Amino acid sequence: MGYRVAVVGATGNVGREMLNILAERQFPADEVVALASRRSLGSEVSYGDKTLTTKDLDAFDFTGWDIALFAIGSDATKIYAPKAAKAGCIVIDNSSLYRYDADVPLVVPEVNPEAVEMVHKNNIIANPNCSTAQMVVALKPLHDRARIKRVVVSTYQSVSGAGKEGIDELWDQTKSIYNPTDDKPAKKFTKQIAFNVIPHIDVFMDSGDTKEEWKMVAETKKIMDPSIKVTATCVRVPVFVGHSEAINIEFEEFLDEDEARDILREAPGLMVIDKRQDGGYVTPIECVGDFATFISRIRQDTTVENGINLWCVSDNLRKGAALNAVQIAETLGQRVLKKG
Ligand SMILES: NC(=O)c1ccc[n+]([C@@H]2O[C@H](COP(=O)([O-])OP(=O)(O)OC[C@H]3O[C@@H](n4cnc5c(N)ncnc54)[C@H](OP(=O)(O)O)[C@@H]3O)[C@@H](O)[C@H]2O)c1
Repeated sequence: MGYRVAVVGATGNVGREMLNILAERQFPADEVVALASRRSLGSEVSYGDKTLTTKDLDAFDFTGWDIALFAIGSDATKIYAPKAAKAGCIVIDNSSLYRYDADVPLVVPEVNPEAVEMVHKNNIIANPNCSTAQMVVALKPLHDRARIKRVVVSTYQSVSGAGKEGIDELWDQTKSIYNPTDDKPAKKFTKQIAFNVIPHIDVFMDSGDTKEEWKMVAETKKIMDPSIKVTATCVRVPVFVGHSEAINIEFEEFLDEDEARDILREAPGLMVIDKRQDGGYVTPIECVGDFATFISRIRQDTTVENGINLWCVSDNLRKGAALNAVQIAETLGQRVLKKG
């Protein structure tokens, strides 16, 4: 017997990818239901070679459903996730609402799969922020070998990280550059995103960091190790899908760049493409639609005692959201529900 799975936010970027990935990975689902707001009632979404008709989340009863993959933003999640959890359905949530709750596991299956076993406290598991998810997959095997002390990361985040409105704004503004009579001022982003970069994602905090930067710090500590120091600068770039990160890592022990490359080659979820020649590295366009997080430009940082630099690229709608959520469901099946 398989699972009954609800995809909540099925008409959104992440929800559609969740349906694709459930089908691609042949998740053992007996039944899948697509849910969204009343606005989308009756609209059709693809699940493998099937077409699902979207139902109204507000009218849905989660009783008898095993797993709900949520991708609807924090405000709506606050209303509907407790209803699902109370009905006995395990919620795997993509919003930031529950990530910092000590009683809710925050899980990246390549890094801390055992944390799913805490699910019974609330029937809720949180999925990390997209930039954190790909970074910790890269950091974990290196931490196991040489103990990470400090990470300095700069991100280059695509507009799909800001949902459908983000994608539309880059598309419309890019077209309007060539047709100045059709001006498209910034709405979703704080400045023009077409042909520009914006060093500001999410709200500003008292420290001067943005919330996105704070999330990378807090989530890395919760998922991996509270002793790791992280400082981040998060930047929105005019790329549709695929987040990139330049990561500088300082270790307690010396780690040679060749050994780091070998460790990363063997690690789950990673693909190393690292040739020191023209094009011998991965760019965001090449990672779209892939499961792997790609690592390139691995090299010694000789300006600190034990330093390594690397370049990390991943499909933010996949490892940063939908893929990680489906992997959590798979881990939950193997470790807790044991049904499939
Ligand atoms: N994009 C990423 O890289 C990424 C990464 C990690 C986490 N996330 C998180 O994933 C969530 C969704 O992101 P997204 O990029 O998929 O956004 P999106 O493309 O804008 O889609 C939003 C989805 O939420 C649904 N929704 C919104 N309000 C609702 C309500 N009140 N009731 C029911 N459904 C509602 C929408 O349904 P309608 O179509 O009916 O409006 C739509 O299906 C957000 O929490 C986001 O922070 C995104």
